[in-house]
Amino acid sequence: MPKRFYIETVGCQMNVLDSELVAASLLAAGYEAVDNRRDADVILFNTCSVRQHAEDKIYSALGRLKHVKDRRPDKIIGVLGCMAQKDRAGIFKRAPHVDLVVGPGQIGQLPLLLAQLGADRTPLLEISLDRRGKPRGEVEDSFEQFDPLRMAEARQARHQAMVRIMFGCDKFCTYCIVPSVRGPEQSRPAREIEAEVAQLADQGCLEVTLLGQTVNSYEDSENGGSVRLADLLERLNGVEGIRRIKFVTNYPRHMDDGLLQAVRDLDKVSPYLHVPAQSGSNAVLKRMKRGYTVEEYRDMLERIRATVPGAAVTSDFIVGFCGETEQDFQQTVDLVRLGRFKNSFIFKYSPRTGTKADELFEDDIPEDVKRRRNNELLAIQNAISQEENDPFVGRTVEILVEGPSKAAHKRESAGQTVQLTGRTVCDRIVVFDGPSGLIGQILPVRIESANSFTLFGRLTFANQEEGRGELRQP
Ligand code: SAH
Ligand code: SF4
Ligand code: F3S
Repeated sequence: MPKRFYIETVGCQMNVLDSELVAASLLAAGYEAVDNRRDADVILFNTCSVRQHAEDKIYSALGRLKHVKDRRPDKIIGVLGCMAQKDRAGIFKRAPHVDLVVGPGQIGQLPLLLAQLGADRTPLLEISLDRRGKPRGEVEDSFEQFDPLRMAEARQARHQAMVRIMFGCDKFCTYCIVPSVRGPEQSRPAREIEAEVAQLADQGCLEVTLLGQTVNSYEDSENGGSVRLADLLERLNGVEGIRRIKFVTNYPRHMDDGLLQAVRDLDKVSPYLHVPAQSGSNAVLKRMKRGYTVEEYRDMLERIRATVPGAAVTSDFIVGFCGETEQDFQQTVDLVRLGRFKNSFIFKYSPRTGTKADELFEDDIPEDVKRRRNNELLAIQNAISQEENDPFVGRTVEILVEGPSKAAHKRESAGQTVQLTGRTVCDRIVVFDGPSGLIGQILPVRIESANSFTLFGRLTFANQEEGRGELRQP
């Protein structure tokens, strides 16, 4: 009988993509995928270290598996991804029943490592080099690139795919663990990305989301010239079958006019820009080593608004960073009010061992203050999200149907309607009723009501050009 595997994934889209690629490599090696831990011979956790909470979740799941392993010692338990790279052999100390610890730069070796474990049950640790004190080239090589040919069966949604265009990060924001666990910034060759997107289009993929920690610093060299993100978008815009192109996450300082013009001019590129500000206070931005001032961030917002009117801009904020005063926080509130973001992800600062902030500054904002600031900022952002969503009521927008909605109360029987969810080109979530056969189609939906997270609508077959800035395709 083939061995069965189950992967549990936490963290960002990079991790979701990595899990898909791991699943594809295991399917190709003859494993079978199952959707729960109980039935699995191999249980894999693809982990995240960005905040303490993400790690706690994994360690407690590992703890709960201890008695399972006692009863079924043949089960293989593997820890993959960012926490594997960060905690290394420490994971075996905290959870001695773990068999395998594999960093994000080694996940391509997984079928091989599992075969090795099958023959000899000695626990295996495979990670990349530490960035400190080693020549850059050696460290780069130790983060092995792993974006093999794509397998439609391994994707959660056949019509949508993520495509990595760069690895790692060189920004070293003082609070952030990502540069240590994901390694040096390296852009993938444009030709390779183009071939991958063409292959995805052949598999029926309509939407691709390009991934990078600072996606707009993408740079490849070809025939002595440089290929920037704007150039790459132009090339991908020409791939037949692809209807929508998104890219995340942008770094404010690299949001140049050429890129904004590409977003404006290329019909398949979504007018959606995720460009985290993190704070509205210059003192805090400086301690975070973000490399821009709030004035520069505001100028960038103005350039976005001027070049791509109607674009949806979204942001991330950290509250309660070391030394953040009430006044600093108020400046963040001011930036959220001014920015009118479609939505913002708001996080309480979580100190990470191995980062500069953890070394240099005291985590001096009490938890209850962090929580209050988080709630306050979220309430302000939610009110803005509601105001930004309200004008959609009465408009018809084109959505890519993604699947049943989370709260799909209406049961489907014999092709009857079910509650479906999809997204506009501006990444707004739309919920409506329709048969599940519509999944993977791009359709017009007339919006009837909105809350701060979701638009609610009804399928319409009219093709009127109402939702300026939303209805991009003729
Ligand atoms: N590369 C992206 C995102 C990286 S992680 C960027 O530069 O924006 C995603 C988000 O997690 C960050 O934008 C930041 O808001 C948050 N984050 C990162 N480290 C954190 C920490 N130590 N505590 C709390 N939030 C953190
Ligand atoms: Fe982390 Fe900053 Fe790099 Fe984003 S840009 S991954 S926040 S170091
Ligand atoms: Fe987490 Fe790693 Fe992504 S630390 S946010 S999974 S790059």
